[in-house]
Amino acid sequence: MIVAEQISHAYQAGDREVPILHGISLHVQPGEMVAVMGPSGSGKSTLLYCLAGLVRPTGGEATLNGTRLSTQSDAQLAKMRRSELGFVFQSYNLMPTLSGFENVALPFRLGKQQPPVDRINQTLATVGLAERAHALPSQMSGGEQQRVALARVLAMRPPIVFADEPTGALDTRTGVVVLNELVTLAHTEGHCVLTVTHDPSVAARCDRVLFLFNGRLAREERNPSADQVASIMTELTAELERSRDEAGR
Ligand SMILES: Nc1ncnc2c1ncn2[C@@H]1O[C@H](COP(=O)(O)OP(=O)(O)O)[C@@H](O)[C@H]1O
Ligand SMILES: [Mg+2]
Repeated sequence: MIVAEQISHAYQAGDREVPILHGISLHVQPGEMVAVMGPSGSGKSTLLYCLAGLVRPTGGEATLNGTRLSTQSDAQLAKMRRSELGFVFQSYNLMPTLSGFENVALPFRLGKQQPPVDRINQTLATVGLAERAHALPSQMSGGEQQRVALARVLAMRPPIVFADEPTGALDTRTGVVVLNELVTLAHTEGHCVLTVTHDPSVAARCDRVLFLFNGRLAREERNPSADQVASIMTELTAELERSRDEAGR
């Protein structure tokens, strides 16, 4: 459902190009939940933005559900994001003037659909926000805002979900609840989830884990345990530090 072929990206910083991603190729199949892990600044969010059509990569091609994103106009990409994609942003991206409930209803309104009130309330209850549904984002904790962002995707159930550190602000128990929901959605026919995480126990719930270091995929593991994930991260981090030391000498 998600295919990346040799995706590269560089940000323009003044008159200088800062390369972030270097030829990333990956695929996510229907029914799959895949995690991306890597140190801060390794390009994980940028990779998700390129794959979701939020940023046009400087090189390579992303294909979603058979549509090559480079062939689509900005308006076509926006339409595709409304109908086929869900994105849980690292910074939540809630509308500040709308309540929790209204934020979850918004994608339905934008898609010219009647918001399914019962389903939205159920989803808000599942993520533990039944009592907070009518508060504004500014009246919510980070964890509550993150759960609204998750409910927005879980109520919509789009075929392709991108989630950027979706449990980063949640306590362990709530994190497990929303992770279960994401896994269930990913394992439903015709759906998939690609999530960034720093948490080895979240990665261990995924079917595959991709390790992104310095803008390159360094390794891939199928069904690793949390301990395996943690030791791979330690190993790759040490390797990266060694190569930086050598480059600095
Ligand atoms: N809009 C931007 N303009 C310039 N540099 C950026 C921009 N967004 C991110 N970067 C830089 O790109 C690198 C990778 O960022 P990001 O994809 O957010 O990494 P991660 O999500 O793995 O922490 C970082 O060094 C960051 O400072
Ligand atoms: Mg990030």
